[in-house]
Amino acid sequence: MTDPGERLRNSLAADLPVGPDFDSPIAMEAMRATRVLHAADQDPFPAPGRIRVVTVANQKGGVGKTTSTVNLGVALAMYGLRTLVIDLDPQGNASTALGVEHTVGTPSIYDALVGDNTLAEVTHPTTASPNLFCVPATIDLAGAEIELVSVVAREHRLRRSIETYLHELPAEERPHYVLIDCPPSLGLLTLNALVAGDEVLIPIQCEYYALEGLGQLLSNIDLVRAHLNPGISVSTILLTMYDGRTKLADQVADEVRNHFGDLVLTAVIPRNVRVSEAPGYGQSVLTYDPGSRGSTSYVEAAREFARRGAALPASTPQPISQPPPPPPVATPVYPPPVGGPPPPVAGPPSVAALVLGEPATAPAQRGRHAT
Ligand SMILES: Nc1ncnc2c1ncn2[C@@H]1O[C@H](COP(=O)(O)OP(=O)(O)OP(=O)(O)O)[C@@H](O)[C@H]1O
Ligand SMILES: [Mg+2]
Repeated sequence: MTDPGERLRNSLAADLPVGPDFDSPIAMEAMRATRVLHAADQDPFPAPGRIRVVTVANQKGGVGKTTSTVNLGVALAMYGLRTLVIDLDPQGNASTALGVEHTVGTPSIYDALVGDNTLAEVTHPTTASPNLFCVPATIDLAGAEIELVSVVAREHRLRRSIETYLHELPAEERPHYVLIDCPPSLGLLTLNALVAGDEVLIPIQCEYYALEGLGQLLSNIDLVRAHLNPGISVSTILLTMYDGRTKLADQVADEVRNHFGDLVLTAVIPRNVRVSEAPGYGQSVLTYDPGSRGSTSYVEAAREFARRGAALPASTPQPISQPPPPPPVATPVYPPPVGGPPPPVAGPPSVAALVLGEPATAPAQRGRHAT
């Protein structure tokens, strides 16, 4: 009699549907794990028509931005595509989940944004895949929103870093994907990510209030497109934490699909405990429990995402070498840090001020009107 493991391997090698012997949950999970782990050789994802710089954003907290960035990144890398994950959240959760050091002093995205380091100098390898690299975020990044205020072309810092990085790498080492994990806010860090990206991926949690606040993100993306980065658009919506036992999850999924149509990936990420356990081990769910539902659904989502990317035209978007001229509207400079000195009222009106929703009158004038 053939051993069950041998039959499973034979069945997979022959790419035949497994027989009734593998109908048990454990055998099915083992089969899924084998498929996930060995799939890169069997069925690699297609490379995109051009380098895709994807900003993963949603100012709502805890909707699965980091989880999706990390697991999509690992899936793309495991299936043969060079991927760079940029952790742009001071919480450093993406760095944790990828097992990348991010204690104070570690070269990080802060040093590229606020300091003079190149992105190459702050990029670290990961253990998840030789194709996957990560720029970690340390707690220093928490101060960047304020430190960047006085920096020239503050909203273009990340874009310039990425452009230089891609330009200086030999073609065969350039990533196919750059995924940027944003913090849960619409401040300067997210603005930098929107100016740097070609497309936005919005994870939406299948829960109450899923669409709350999304209008503000979408109108910010419109403003960025109009004034700072004509190439940016929402390309992908990913439904996360779907709980098939509840009607609510279906209602939310239907509502999101009605609203966003084809932007929504067919693959849906279920709520799965293995997904939430994995970061605790410095891992993605694909490496922590490859046969779990969470893992296979992230692989499916990444496959769909990659297939869409393969259809993109080959042209690379025009780099933005100079910040565009300011629009003919009077807007003040960014408000000062709490307790800090008031900023000078002089200076050109800032487009970033519009996008960031900075007040329409200067702080000094506001004070006068208030009395
Ligand atoms: N599919 C899932 N199943 C179970 N738990 C999940 C799933 N996706 C995410 N989680 C958990 O939900 C929490 C929030 O996820 P995550 O950190 O990815 O959200 P986020 O949008 O990045 O949050 P923040 O806004 O704080 O950056 C985490 O504890 C994560 O482990
Ligand atoms: Mg996060």
